[in-house]
Amino acid sequence: METVLITGGTGLIGSHLSKKLEENGFNVAILSRKANSEGPIPVYAWDPDKNIVDPDAISGADYIIHLAGAGIGDKRWTKKRSELILASRIKTGELLLNKILESGKKLKAFISASGIGYYGALTSERIFNETDPPSNDFPGEVCRKWEEMADRFQDSGIRTVKFRTGVVLADKGGALDRMTTAVKLGIGSPIGSGKQYIPWIHIDDLCNLYLKAVQDYSMTGAWNAVAPEHVTNREFMRVLAEVLEKPFFFPAVPSFVLKILFGQMSGIILKGSRVSADKIISSGYNFKFPDLENALKNLFQRK
Ligand SMILES: NC(=O)c1ccc[n+]([C@@H]2O[C@H](COP(=O)([O-])OP(=O)(O)OC[C@H]3O[C@@H](n4cnc5c(N)ncnc54)[C@H](OP(=O)(O)O)[C@@H]3O)[C@@H](O)[C@H]2O)c1
Repeated sequence: METVLITGGTGLIGSHLSKKLEENGFNVAILSRKANSEGPIPVYAWDPDKNIVDPDAISGADYIIHLAGAGIGDKRWTKKRSELILASRIKTGELLLNKILESGKKLKAFISASGIGYYGALTSERIFNETDPPSNDFPGEVCRKWEEMADRFQDSGIRTVKFRTGVVLADKGGALDRMTTAVKLGIGSPIGSGKQYIPWIHIDDLCNLYLKAVQDYSMTGAWNAVAPEHVTNREFMRVLAEVLEKPFFFPAVPSFVLKILFGQMSGIILKGSRVSADKIISSGYNFKFPDLENALKNLFQRK
């Protein structure tokens, strides 16, 4: 059986993806800052600050999925936090590449998370695709450097795939939990102009895409991981309130409130670009949840 090593596999995406990979006949191992030998999935330790990786994690891996990273939207982007956001994705990836090259390990693929922040936050009708350049803002810089790190694996002869991921919708945790809390409290409303797009993806589709990237040897390079349906923030909140059978209010939460609360970071909430799913669809992928209403209904049924 082949083994997939997932960095940051303890998180939201990794915990769902581990199950998906196991169901499809793969062994899964996790690389975490805290080892754990008690659970059903082996959790190996690494300490990126000290350049330490458990050698067994590397020697046993056929594929690596790189999900590790300090949350981009979790805290204000102070200088220290911005450095951590970059280092936890890029230095960690470089550390893995060095360990792989030193060990002579023949890795079958390196698959890395990236984000739709690559294209920048821009509220317009323009639809971005994988050939568009990165933006100059902070999320754009993070994604560009994250992907350049991944490209070094490709340059070393390892097949590399990068997923520019939209907002991941899952039954527990992540952005949907936060939005649901507001709607359940009866304060569900659009944010800012409400016209900004929210590129999103159901967790099952994202896991299926990672599985495809492992199995499909023709896949390389950057792929948008977003559902084909484009929804604005206003439309998203309206559908969410409808599915939860809760009221939906207008006017929206004013932009200045968010600017006070989130500073520079408010840009990723107040603005949002449309991102295309055409490339992944053209590759033959069929979305299980192409539209928001059914995606949300499915997730709330699981709760
Ligand atoms: N969820 C989304 O909506 C979304 C959207 C676009 C892109 N992504 C990207 O996809 C990846 C996985 O997302 P997720 O939602 O599963 O994230 P998550 O739940 O926050 O999990 C990320 C994992 O990264 C590890 N980590 C955190 N800080 C770290 C640090 N300073 N150094 C090294 N490792 C660190 C943690 O594992 P340990 O504590 O076990 O070490 C954590 O469990 C992230 O890179 C994220 O930016 C997510």
